[in-house]
Amino acid sequence: MLTEFEQPQGEFLTSDIGFEEISSLPIDHPGAHDPAYRARRDLIAGFARRYRDDASHEIPLVDYTADETEVWRHVCCRLEKAQAKRACSFYLQAKKDLGISCLVVPQLRDLSEKLQRITQFRLAPIEGLVETRAFLSWLGRRTMLCTQYVRHHSRPDYTPEPDVVHEFIGHVPAFTNPAFADFSEFIGKGAAIANEEQLIQLGRLYWFTVEFGLVQEGAGIKAFGAGLLSSYGELEYAFSKDVERRPFDLRTVINTPYEYSDMQPLLFVIPSYAHLKEVTREFIESFQAESKK
Ligand SMILES: [Fe+2]
Repeated sequence: MLTEFEQPQGEFLTSDIGFEEISSLPIDHPGAHDPAYRARRDLIAGFARRYRDDASHEIPLVDYTADETEVWRHVCCRLEKAQAKRACSFYLQAKKDLGISCLVVPQLRDLSEKLQRITQFRLAPIEGLVETRAFLSWLGRRTMLCTQYVRHHSRPDYTPEPDVVHEFIGHVPAFTNPAFADFSEFIGKGAAIANEEQLIQLGRLYWFTVEFGLVQEGAGIKAFGAGLLSSYGELEYAFSKDVERRPFDLRTVINTPYEYSDMQPLLFVIPSYAHLKEVTREFIESFQAESKK
């Protein structure tokens, strides 16, 4: 039986985690040809590397520049208006509880400390996009790897990779929900023991919930996925007539492929986080039973 509320164990060792350099990201990365941006991104990536080498594992603070703060303000203000109408009520409250505002870029360290007090979930800095199994496996230790850089200023409403807007606005508030935090841990534990096919299925479950999930709220449908809540365009599109919003069914979800770079034409609506947690628990326990055969 999968256990809940385990304390993270052991040292933070991510030397085996491969992550994507900016040069390996899509050619349309807005910062790819901006040397100053790349230098800044490299500097912040260096913080993540130092964090792993530092025995105290104290999350480094980033002194965000006026330009970076301006990008944060622009995107957050725009998102806030859309979220007021589309985001689930739990998310809106969680953002307030964590003190996330449009005015200043939050510090990863502060958010991690707050989360640990609420659900024993924590955050850790990482250089960039991480390979699926390694990234998901860290969730099994109630830890989410987060980038600390800000997207390029030339296209504030777009980023081809996770940045602080995606991490802090999209992902972090959900971890204040105990059922969501447990569900994330189950996904991580599953990823650590999954075979290749199961890993693909877990990736789909993660995509259609953590990134693009919708939730039934009374008579209405609201957004809780980070990919929706951190993208004005995705959030509006999710509720348009061009998108099919289907009741969540685990078997359907894990057998539905998705396109990473397209707008999502099909989304799934969970009845509750508690339901999501329980069906995921059963799914992961089937991995354990299979591996013992
Ligand atoms: Fe994400």
